[in-house]
Amino acid sequence: MSGRVVLFLLASVAAVAQAQNSTCCEALRGSGLEYVYFRDTPAYQERNISYFSVSAQLDPICFVQPTGTADVVKTVNILVKHPACLDTKFAVRSGGHMQWAGSNNIDDGVTVDLGLMNSTTLESNGIAAVQPGARWGAVYEALDPFNYTVVGGREHAVGVAGFLTGGGNSFFSARFGFAADTVKNFEVVLANGEVVNANLNENSDLFQVLKGGGGSNYGIVTRFDMYAVAITKLWGGVGIWDTSYREQHINAHIKWVDNVEKYPPGSTVMAFTYQPVLGGSVILNFHHDTEGHVAAPAFDDFLAIPQVSNTFRIASHTEMADELELPYGYRNVWFTTAVRNDPRIYNKIVDLHNQLTEEWKSEGDPDFMAETNFQAIPRSFTEHSLANGGNILGLDQVNENVVMNLFVIAVRTRDLEVKATEKIKAYGAQIEAFAASVDGLVDWRYLNYAGGGYQDPLASYGEESSAKMKAASAKYDPTGIFQTKSPAGFKLSNSRAGS
Ligand SMILES: Cc1cc2nc3c(=O)[nH]c(=O)nc-3n(C[C@H](O)[C@H](O)[C@H](O)COP(=O)(O)OP(=O)(O)OC[C@H]3O[C@@H](n4cnc5c(N)ncnc54)[C@H](O)[C@@H]3O)c2cc1C
Ligand SMILES: *[C@@H]1O[C@H](CO)[C@@H](O)[C@H](O)[C@H]1NC(C)=O
Ligand SMILES: *[C@@H]1O[C@H](CO)[C@@H](O)[C@H](O)[C@H]1NC(C)=O
Ligand SMILES: *[C@@H]1O[C@H](CO)[C@@H](O)[C@H](O)[C@H]1NC(C)=O
Ligand SMILES: *[C@@H]1O[C@H](CO)[C@@H](O)[C@H](O)[C@H]1NC(C)=O
Repeated sequence: MSGRVVLFLLASVAAVAQAQNSTCCEALRGSGLEYVYFRDTPAYQERNISYFSVSAQLDPICFVQPTGTADVVKTVNILVKHPACLDTKFAVRSGGHMQWAGSNNIDDGVTVDLGLMNSTTLESNGIAAVQPGARWGAVYEALDPFNYTVVGGREHAVGVAGFLTGGGNSFFSARFGFAADTVKNFEVVLANGEVVNANLNENSDLFQVLKGGGGSNYGIVTRFDMYAVAITKLWGGVGIWDTSYREQHINAHIKWVDNVEKYPPGSTVMAFTYQPVLGGSVILNFHHDTEGHVAAPAFDDFLAIPQVSNTFRIASHTEMADELELPYGYRNVWFTTAVRNDPRIYNKIVDLHNQLTEEWKSEGDPDFMAETNFQAIPRSFTEHSLANGGNILGLDQVNENVVMNLFVIAVRTRDLEVKATEKIKAYGAQIEAFAASVDGLVDWRYLNYAGGGYQDPLASYGEESSAKMKAASAKYDPTGIFQTKSPAGFKLSNSRAGS
């Protein structure tokens, strides 16, 4: 009897308190979460401009920074269940490197920013426990002293969670496949506040869809347990060539892609780029050797081409990643395709890149960046994947070594971004049409390079993957919180894969 009265009293006190905490952000603060940043505070301002691409900087009501899994549970419970949050949407952000508006942030909603969850620990069993908000440079720095590393991003400031849940192409990918395929276990907070593990033995359906399916479709990943790799130093760096050596580069890259399996320690990214800081248009390649062999024969064709400059040397994984970064301060507009390893397609893409560069110089603001880069996606990535339970990318349907292309223009203002987006869609359509006309278009798009709003990477994984992703969403998020209440990112609900 008295128990009921006390309960009733507590309930009315809670109701009054909830009414007082009239905004969702106040409710988050009221629940004891320490790092809730309201507009017009220095901490808010710092997070607000902390995105790689200016396109992704929006205007959330507040940022909340959980410090651990328990904080993420508390955050999700408030966002999903508190009356003050009924009409408030939220976004999830880790490294904040996804380039498009609405991928990792939200206007007039709450942005759950995992930047304080950034630790890396090497466990005695050869597993590295990596928190989602870490940047790859800091991850390597933590592991280098032990002569270990993990298969992660090539550029130091890229974040862990977006990279891993989208796939992850690394210096080490020819040896181990996509970075996602080197994850042994994901710890995930689901929409109902439950903490689950996803691995080969537990929730293996969730394990598979998290490897490429875009993490924000299923829950919030709070820890990645990754197989650590024993390393010594790497060899490599950045080389710059004059654009007149285009044909030699394309020939060298074609041979590279055809022979990836023959030299797994090697990694190459070939880019044609226009950057004011580089004085205009150049060919800029990354060449790396994860076993530290100096200028191995696999790189001969590239290294024989006379260079303007290069930084090739022996260095740690940390130093190699520190060296690489795209320029900040731009609004990034990206388009990605996958094509067969055919010189006609490379030449068409480089022609289109040159055309876009010249067009923008005359029509737009000359302070822009343009790039088109080529990366091998060999058949062996899938073989590595299958050995660890398989990912969701659907590349098992592709029976040859193909090439991924990223086509970029980055500009300074909102108006120019609108114009650049129209252009990139038109140029992307031309790339796809040309590749299709020579039977060279591969129906696969890399989520981490795709343009939000005009590309549909999830659907490109194929019917079987769509069915698995829909089933996992229905099972682990039955009320669709991560589809509708958390709309940021590539969503099944917004994809042909989900229909
Ligand atoms: C300069 C630069 C270099 C790059 N280099 C490479 C490269 O070498 N190889 C490569 O493959 N890609 C590369 N990328 C692409 C990169 O993989 C993606 O931008 C990736 O999404 C970045 O991860 P993030 O954690 O920084 O992303 P964020 O922008 O924080 O998040 C990306 C997406 O993941 C979701 N998400 C974030 N955290 C979580 C979480 N904990 N749980 C669930 N969902 C979450 C977000 O909601 C968002 O939709 C690069 C990008 C840039 C800008
Ligand atoms: C409301 O906020 C206050 C102080 O910020 C806090 O003590 C209280 O627990 C909150 N109540 C609810 C229901 O969130
Ligand atoms: C956050 O950044 C966005 C984009 O630059 C800007 O429009 C907005 O006004 C900023 N919000 C606050 C509260 O300063
Ligand atoms: C983690 O983030 C905090 C806050 O930004 C920063 O001070 C710290 O250096 C980071 N730690 C690592 C290991 O990156
Ligand atoms: C790492 O490798 C270096 C060079 O081979 C060696 O000197 C050092 O002792 C190693 N460190 C550990 C922790 O094994």
